Amino acid sequence: KELRIIGVPSDLGQGRRGVDMGPSAIRYAGLSAALEGLGYTVQDLGNINVPTPEMKEQNQNTKLRYLHEVTEVSKNLCNIVSTVVTEGHIPIILGGDHSIAIGSLAGMAQSSTNYGVIWFDAHGDMNTAETTPSGNIHGMPLAVSLGYGHEDLLAIGGLKQKVKPENVVMVGIRSIDEDEAKLIHETGIRCYTMAEIDRRGMAKVMTEAIEIATNGTDGIHLSLDLDALDPMFAPGVGTPVYGGVTYREGHLAMEMLASSDALVSVDVVEVNPILDERNRTAMMAVELVESLFGKTVL
Ligand code: ARG
Ligand code: MN
Ligand code: MN
Ligand code: MN
Repeated sequence: KELRIIGVPSDLGQGRRGVDMGPSAIRYAGLSAALEGLGYTVQDLGNINVPTPEMKEQNQNTKLRYLHEVTEVSKNLCNIVSTVVTEGHIPIILGGDHSIAIGSLAGMAQSSTNYGVIWFDAHGDMNTAETTPSGNIHGMPLAVSLGYGHEDLLAIGGLKQKVKPENVVMVGIRSIDEDEAKLIHETGIRCYTMAEIDRRGMAKVMTEAIEIATNGTDGIHLSLDLDALDPMFAPGVGTPVYGGVTYREGHLAMEMLASSDALVSVDVVEVNPILDERNRTAMMAVELVESLFGKTVL
C-alpha cells in the first residue's frame, strides 16, 4: 500500500493558538523522507483549507466553539480520506487539533471500511454539548464518531455512527471530565488508563487493544494525540497532563501495531510548535510514525 499525507492546519477545536502549525512542524521534522526511507511510496497531498480563527466570529447560538467552521473542514477532510482509502492507500492525517478526527473517521466510514479505533490520548474526547466544560470541539470527536453530539457533526459523511463501540479502545487515559465519564460507561468502550498500563504493562494492554479493534473488522484506525505521551517527551501540546506514556512505551505500542499489520489509517494530532521546545514534539511524532510503519533496529 502507498501512503498519502493530508495536512489539516486547524486550531478551531481548542483554545490555544499554534496547533494549526502542526502539519508544517511534522513535515519539517522529516515525515515523508522517513517513510520513504522505510521503502514506502509517499505522496503529500498538501493542506486542507482551514479558516483562521481571527477571521471568524464565534456563533452565539451554540456553546460549541467554531461549530460551523469545524463542520466545513470536517466535510472536506471526510471526502479526501474516503477517496484516498477507496483508491487503496493509507491516509496519514496531520493535525491540527483533535477535532479533525471527526472528518477522518467520517471518511473511513464513507469509504465503507469496516474498522476499529485505537484512541491514543491522555483524554477521552467523549464530551458532548451537554458535558463539555470548555466548549472546545477537540474534546468531542470520539463521542461524535460513536453517534453522540451535535447533529451537524453527526451528519458528516452520512452514517450517524462511524464506528461500533465494541471495536473502540482508549489507551493512555488520565484525564476525564466528570460528566464525560458517564458516556464512556454507557457506550461500554474499553478504556486503558495509565493506572492499568502501570499495573499490567503496555505490551499486554496493546495485545488486548489490537484484539478488540480488529475483532470482526478489516483494520485499525489509530488516532494518535501527542498528549498521550508524558509532557517530558512531548511538551508541545495544548493540554498536557503529567503521568503519561513514556518514550519506550510509546514506541512499543507503535511497534506492536506495525506487527499486527492491521493499520488502515492514522491521525497525528495536537502538535503545537508555539508551545514546543525546538520542534521536539514533532520529531517525536515522526519517530512514532516510523515505528508504526515498521521501523526496527536491524
Ligand atoms: N476534556 C477537556 C475538554 O473537553 C480537554 C479535551 C482535550 N482534548 C484533546 N484532544 N487534547 O475540553
Ligand atoms: Mn454559519
Ligand atoms: Mn485528543
Ligand atoms: Mn488529548
